[in-house]
Amino acid sequence: MEWTQDLAVGVTKIDDQHKELIARMNAFFDSMNKMDKQQKVLDMLAFLEKYVVEHFSDEEKLQISSGYPLYKEHKKMHTDFIADIRKIKSDIEKDGFTVATSALVGSTLVSWLTLHIKNVDKGLGAHIKSKNA
Ligand SMILES: [Fe+2]
Repeated sequence: MEWTQDLAVGVTKIDDQHKELIARMNAFFDSMNKMDKQQKVLDMLAFLEKYVVEHFSDEEKLQISSGYPLYKEHKKMHTDFIADIRKIKSDIEKDGFTVATSALVGSTLVSWLTLHIKNVDKGLGAHIKSKNA
């Protein structure tokens, strides 16, 4: 996955964090695609998870400080995504991974993040910009 201008939310801090998020996601995919040892793949996933948690928490702080009306709904999506990542982690721990699972995991994460940024975070960006204007 690549960060492109159509993913821009318009708030520098959020956009920068999305770029880092995509970089860590790609590092995780690379590790899976190279069929690295299971522990290495899990380390990359943990590295991704850590940033996801940090980024969501920063985004939620911005939502609170800007009085974002959809905070609750947005936070729920974040919580569900973190749960998905933890589920992937426990699945890999339990069953390992194959080329098929890696493709599935890859496309699931990419489509979630792409849609979330385009459909949800962009709205948040517009809200924050309107507050700062
Ligand atoms: Fe978000």
